[in-house]
Amino acid sequence: MIRRRGQAAAKGVLCALLLGGMTVADAGTILGTKHDFTGLNQRAGVVAMSTVAFSDLGSSCVYCHIPPEKGEEADSAELGGNPGWNRYLPATGAYDLYDSPTLDNKVKTPSPISLLCLSCHDGTMAVDMTVFKPNGWRSSEDAALHLRLNGADDLMSCGKCHDGRAAHKIAIKHLDTDLTNDHPISMTYAGLTHGDPDFRRPDGPYGFDNGVKLYDQKVECATCHNVHNPDITLLLRTRADHLCETCHIK
Ligand code: HEC
Ligand code: HEC
Ligand code: HEC
Ligand code: HEC
Ligand code: HEC
Repeated sequence: MIRRRGQAAAKGVLCALLLGGMTVADAGTILGTKHDFTGLNQRAGVVAMSTVAFSDLGSSCVYCHIPPEKGEEADSAELGGNPGWNRYLPATGAYDLYDSPTLDNKVKTPSPISLLCLSCHDGTMAVDMTVFKPNGWRSSEDAALHLRLNGADDLMSCGKCHDGRAAHKIAIKHLDTDLTNDHPISMTYAGLTHGDPDFRRPDGPYGFDNGVKLYDQKVECATCHNVHNPDITLLLRTRADHLCETCHIK
């Protein structure tokens, strides 16, 4: 309940916040979700995380987006970042992606929009490792430790506490760099115009009417997940029991 009130209050603040002139749509709903890394101690009712585990940068948006006050010309790519995002590129080429004899579109490297997700979920980089820090954030507030999203029991890992005893288990969110057991990503969608008969045609250039979204005609993490909408379990774009049949005919 505390979380709800905080969320409503913070939403008001958000209305004033436009990232690079984009419209905010339902962006505010990220507040209070698993991807909101601000005020975690308060929300969780513990004094354990920020300033120890990771830096509370004061804005939940900047863990992914370039702080708007940096202006349109701020280029994260110049600093080794993922173009357009406030995160560094994970070591590309290091992923093992799903493959099988029947898979038509074989991909070696995930696209930038999926590397955004993997920059935390592969567990190789700290959650608070952003390219730009927001104006006004003081380096004296920098965390003592910069932990990574993985289940290991060491001082580099959220799993130190998030082991299912001291705090909820985090290992299942850690995809690792071995993605061979995960749904394939970054391949061109097989159901486009000259489609594969096993796949439905999308409803439009950006995907399906139920919200399942294609990026440059490709399937990415954000095809199935919308980090901005916590209404459906696991941030899915449509309920799990309808998700697969959006694309797969059998
Ligand atoms: C965990 C990473 C992450 C965080 C944190 C995050 N976003 Fe996003 N944001 C995304 C992704 C991914 C997209 C692209 C979504 C798409 O294409 O559908 C996006 C898109 C947007 C857009 C473009 C419009 C749209 O809906 O496509 C706006 C505006 C936006 N975010 C605002 C915000 C604001 C404001 C916050 C902080 C309250 C925030 N975001 C926090 C990942 C994030
Ligand atoms: C800045 C780091 C970061 C980025 C970037 C990020 N995530 Fe996460 N994500 C997390 C953390 C941390 C959790 C929650 C771990 C926990 O407490 O269980 C999480 C949780 C999730 C969950 C589970 C939500 C739930 O309700 O249990 C999904 C699904 C997810 N992320 C998908 C994505 C996708 C898709 C993207 C890219 C668009 C993305 N994440 C980008 C850090 C990140
Ligand atoms: C020093 C111990 C400790 C460390 C390290 C730690 N956490 Fe936590 N975290 C907790 C405790 C305790 C809770 C509250 C109990 C729970 O949610 O399981 C919590 C809760 C959370 C929550 C839920 C907040 C909410 O709104 O309910 C998230 C998300 C989270 N932690 C993410 C992380 C991430 C990501 C890392 C690593 C970057 C991390 N934590 C590292 C102790 C820790
Ligand atoms: C084809 C759709 C699809 C794609 C693409 C996809 N996911 Fe998922 N994801 C799901 C579904 C469905 C679930 C829940 C069932 C499960 O765990 O398999 C899920 C679960 C998750 C979870 C939560 C695990 C848990 O049980 O708490 C995380 C984190 C996550 N996905 C992140 C990602 C990331 C990061 C990517 C890109 C590398 C990605 N997903 C690509 C459909 C997808
Ligand atoms: C956005 C569309 C989309 C959604 C949603 C989707 N898939 Fe897929 N899936 C694809 C595409 C495209 C391929 C790769 C086809 C190819 O290139 O051969 C694929 C491949 C696969 C494969 C590998 C097939 C092979 O030949 O090795 C499996 C298994 C699979 N999907 C299962 C699922 C499941 C289970 C779900 C629901 C959780 C799901 N998919 C949701 C588009 C989708």
